[in-house]
Parts: sequence; C-alpha cells; structure tokens
Amino acid sequence: MSNHAEPAVTESASIESVLHENRVFQPPEGVSSRIGGAYVKSLDQYHALYKRSIEDPDGFWSEAAGELHWFAPWSSVVEWKLPDAKWFVGGQTNVCYNCVDRQIASGHGDDVAIVWEGEPVPGAGGAGAALQYEAGISGPEVRKLTYNDLKHDVCKFANALKNLGVRKGDVVTIYMGMVPELAVAVLACARIGAPHSVIFGGFSSSAIVDRVVDADSKVIVTCDGAWRRGAIVPLKDNVDAACNELQGSANAVRNVIVLKRCNNNISWNDVRDTWWHELVDNAADDCPCEHMDSEDMLFLLYTSGSTGKPKGIVHTTGGYMVFTYLTSKYVFNLVPDQQQVFWCTADVGWVTGHSYIIYGILPNRVPTVMYEGAPNYPQPDRFWDIVERHKVTQFYTAPTAIRAFMKWGREHPDNHDLSSLKVLGTVGEPINPEAWMWYHEVIGSEKCPIVDTWWQTETGGHMITPLPAATPTVPGSCTLPFFGIDAVIVDDNGNEQPVETGGLLAIRKPWPGMLRGIHGDRQRFIDTYFSRIKGMYFAGDGAKRDARGNFWIMGRVDDVINVSGHRLGTMEVESALVSHEAVVEAAVVGMPHEIKGTGIAAFCTLGPNHQPADKSNAEKLRSTLREHVAQEIGAIAKPDMIRFTDALPKTRSGKIMRRLLRSIASGDEQGTQDTTTLEDFTVLAKLREDKEG
Ligand code: WT7
Repeated sequence: MSNHAEPAVTESASIESVLHENRVFQPPEGVSSRIGGAYVKSLDQYHALYKRSIEDPDGFWSEAAGELHWFAPWSSVVEWKLPDAKWFVGGQTNVCYNCVDRQIASGHGDDVAIVWEGEPVPGAGGAGAALQYEAGISGPEVRKLTYNDLKHDVCKFANALKNLGVRKGDVVTIYMGMVPELAVAVLACARIGAPHSVIFGGFSSSAIVDRVVDADSKVIVTCDGAWRRGAIVPLKDNVDAACNELQGSANAVRNVIVLKRCNNNISWNDVRDTWWHELVDNAADDCPCEHMDSEDMLFLLYTSGSTGKPKGIVHTTGGYMVFTYLTSKYVFNLVPDQQQVFWCTADVGWVTGHSYIIYGILPNRVPTVMYEGAPNYPQPDRFWDIVERHKVTQFYTAPTAIRAFMKWGREHPDNHDLSSLKVLGTVGEPINPEAWMWYHEVIGSEKCPIVDTWWQTETGGHMITPLPAATPTVPGSCTLPFFGIDAVIVDDNGNEQPVETGGLLAIRKPWPGMLRGIHGDRQRFIDTYFSRIKGMYFAGDGAKRDARGNFWIMGRVDDVINVSGHRLGTMEVESALVSHEAVVEAAVVGMPHEIKGTGIAAFCTLGPNHQPADKSNAEKLRSTLREHVAQEIGAIAKPDMIRFTDALPKTRSGKIMRRLLRSIASGDEQGTQDTTTLEDFTVLAKLREDKEG
C-alpha cells in the first residue's frame, strides 16, 4: 500500500510508520542556470540561511519585506503573544499595489502579468466550442493581460464596487469560474481594503448560504456560468438559490454582480442583479490604493474542520504578502526577465490559487497562467498542450492530478514538447512514490527538481519544501522547513520525538503568513490550533522525520479527510447525509482511493420506512444520497461507497468506532483490528456482510 492511505493512528499521538523510501535525488546537473540563476545553490547555503532566519527573524524578514513597497514603515517586525502574532506592526502597504502598480512603477507595465486560457476548443464539440466557432476564433481563447491592462481592469472594478457602496472592511463574496475577471475581482477587493471571501465554484448553494451568513457579506460577484468539460456549471442559478433563501433575513444579499461568460439563460432580479460590464462601463478608471495597516484583514477563506461548520480562516495584509512573495520566489525560483512562465493548476477557490496563482506570483513579475477548465478536455493531453503552447517553465499541481495522468497514459504527455519545463511542484496531500517517479521521469525527463510543498490554508504559504537547486529530494517526502519555519515532531506532551518516530507536526514560532484567527470564533481558533500542544501551533497532521532531517507527512490525525487534495470534515458529510429523510445516523471515514488518494466511505442506518426492499432499491437510494450530498456541499463530497447497516459499531460509552469502519472501508474484511471495546459484536459481522452492489 502506498503512503497516501490514512495512517494507523492510535488514540494517543504515536503513529506507526510504514514507509521506507531510500532513493535520494540530488538537484539535477545544471539546474541553477536553467532556472535563471538559483537563489539558493546548495544544501549548505540553505542551512546557513535557515539558521539565520531562525536566529535573527527580525533581520531576515525585514530584508524580505524591504523588497516590496510600503506606504509607511513598520515599527516592529513581529509581536508574538500566543496565539496572536502581529507582523510588520505599524507598517502600511497594499497587496494589490505590490502585485500590479509596483511593476508599472519600475517600467514594466507592458510585461505580461496573466496568461489566461479558456476551456472551449473549436471543433471539439460541446456548446462552448460552437459558440467560439461562430465568433470565428480558432484554437482555444487566450487572453494576455499586461500589468497596465490589469491595473486598468482592477481600478474600474474597484470603483464599480465602491459605487455599489462597498467600503473598506466590507466582505465581498466571490463565486466565479476561472476567468481573468476572478483575479481582477480579488485584486480590486485588495485595492480598496474590502476582504474577499472566494467560494470554490464547485460548491453548492447551501455552501454559499453558510459562508455568506458567517461573513455577513452583502455583495456577491459571480458569472452566468462556468465552462467545465464542455458543459456549463450554472453559477448564477446557485447564487439565486442562496439569495432567495436569505431574502428577508438579516443576512439578505444586497447586490449580485454577474459577469457574462457562457451566455446561458439565467433569471434576473432587477433589484439585486447588475451586469459586470454595465457597472464597469460606468466606473472611472483611476482608483488609488487604500493604505492598509499591515494587520488589516486581506481575505477570509473557508475550510473544513473536525466539526460540521466550515471555518473562516482570516489572513491579513503585510505578513501574508511577504510570505507568499518570498516562498514563491525561493521555492519556484522565480526570476523576472528570464522567459519564465509559471503555472499553478489549482482553482482560485482554494488557498493554493490565492497564494500561488495571484498573490505570491504577481509581485515576482513572472507571468502566471490561469486555465479555465478540466485537465482532460477535450482530450487527456490538455495540460501538456498548454505547457507546450505557453512554454511553461514552472508547473505546480496535485498528486491526485498526477495519478489521473498516469492512468490516462504517458502517450499524452509524450505527444508534446515539454522541454520548457524546469521545476515541477506538488501540493495537497502526500505524494505516493510511484506518482513522484512518474512525474520525475515522464513530465520532468529526469531534469526537473520536484518541490513537494507541505502547507495548509491556515499557513498561507509553503512551510516544508525543497528548494529546487539546493535540496536533495526523496520521493514522498516534503523534505526541509522553509526559512523561518520552526517545525518539529512532538508527542501529545510537546516532547520532541526521536528520528523515524511518528508524532504530531507542530510549529514552535510564528511566521508571517500564519492565520490570525477563525472569523467570529476566537475560542475555536484557540482550541483547534493552540490547545493540543502547549505553546505551539498544531497543524492537524501526523508526521515523522528521518535521519536526514526530512519530514514525511503521514496524514490527518483529526476527523478531516483529504479528498483529491481538498480538505473535507467527516462531520460535514455526516450532517449532509442525516439531513436526508431516509438516514437516521451516519458515520463517514476515509478509504484508500486510486486517484483521489482518499475516498469517502459512508455507513448509514436508515429509518424504518426507508429500508430498501431489494438490491436495486438499495442502489437507487445510494445514488439519491450521493446527489443529496452534492446538493448540500458540492460534488467533491459525494461518497465513493455507501453501506447500509442496522447499527454502527460503538463503544459502551456510545462513541462510533471509526477505526473499525476505516478498516472495513479499506477492505480489511477479516478484521485485524482490536475490538475489545466494541459493545455489540454482531454489528461488525453484519457490516462486513452488507457489501455494496
Ligand atoms: C492539508 C491542508 C495547502 C494547499 C492545499 C491543501 C495536506 C498539503 C501536502 C504535502 C502531504 C499535504 C495536509 C495538510 N497536505 N500539502 N505536500 N504533503 N500532505 O490545503 O485544504 O488547507 O489542506 O493538506 O494534510 O494539513 P488544505
């Protein structure tokens, strides 16, 4: 079994380590010059800089921050009173200024900032393709925005928001497809100091409702639809459903701004809805950057936790800006004027897109690629086609995508010229060594270092990662901590674990990009991150360190599962299931999945009037429940396996024994798990009997 399965976690923090991987890959010959001159050229140089960053954080971070523009200088670099960190205290800046205006001020206004490619391809079939074909476009639609273009569009949209009454501090919800206007909307918010809350376009209307209410957001920016695999995702319909639900309540949405992208039929509310293009036409094209305090909120981003309710992670201005800028610079070795083209394949709806499509990349003045659609549309070679045509140099994706590419076959990348590639990156979950090797050989031709970056929504940017020309890599390990990151493996009492011994991954010192809170829930912030291990930030992951000092992430130790690199709370899926009338009780656990890394297994007990009469009724109910979960959360949360059962295995004190369910879900029908605390043994036998389909 590969290492992306859930680790064997006992009730305490000790984790059995099962992985032994000894292949070490030195940074490839000549890589430094290929990446435009490496900032860090050797492991020794890394160690020296790392030591300095830990011993003199003030010096290290003020140098980094000094590479960016500030309207007013900070008076102290960091103030740390657990759990609260403040960075660049008293400093004033604007993140949009540093992404856009700063490049124009240094004479680079005509350089390309964003390279955008739409999904539809003429001749490939699908409604979108036909639409473009009529417009006489051949090949996929490509838009390149220079920093001047970006400034123009951002200023106009910022003024449009102001004209709708949006003020500094007001949260703007953004629910769009991957169009350039999504980046424009995000940057416009940053420009005027209105924190954005981007909701992934794959989430459902109920997810919009929860987030809009929690953030008390009055304005939503959306699209009529979004292209996905040749079909249209009805974004505006979902927003309408959410707004209609909130209408008349204290959380009613005041304005919905709609970008026309797919030309699909939508319904229109004259009071609430406005077209993006009409608003922007009437807006002035100059909009000064708000001078933001370093600790003013930049954005909220909702992520799953171990309870049912997603938490709004708060990121602020100065620290997040410096951290994403510096991690982008060192980890991808971004160098301007070296024909570099950076592509992160994530959606801006996730933190990866925030930090490594927009905020970290633009200040480095290397063009950032944004692709609208699916990796296998119209053919499984779409990503490689994009790499070839845009001459992508740094490519950043997720293990789940790599496993899908492996499955689709190497002929797809082999049909393309991938020689522009210099650095490959991965993020989201532990990468299994098979996938790492495939990435290394088939995509990187053994010439591209792989940076396996461990981080989280909460950390803002890379925490543990190789540097491309300095760090020897080992398939499956995210290697060494980034500058300033004091990472350790500890037990529950905060004692450092010996080498090769699993434990909890914790961070001892504050770093600039760390979350500043959970919106509206101070206690949950303290409980989640600063309570389990005294005096440290606890990430929620189990990990170990090997003799070289390399970190190995072993997966979550809480009730959070990582599906295709996206975090889902098992409780969220459980509440979605029990909100269906047929389901009385549900327990959700992760199970190994070939492509997703972790799949979702659900065990449900049903009400007396909902017992399926036969196999085909059971199958029908399963698909109904899958659809129901998609409605409640989004398609990513659909269970891969649903088993119906008379009862769930519980301890005498009534706790569901998830460990047992996990082992059943992963195919351990023989039962090698310890069941001494199980209350009713017949439950287990029945669970094993009721196999799906
Ligand atoms: C969780 C964070 C950070 C952007 C994507 C996910 C897992 C992330 C790695 C990696 C092993 C990883 C962890 C972490 N994770 N990157 N390189 N190796 N595990 O963000 O939704 O906040 O999830 O993803 O379990 O805690 P997220």
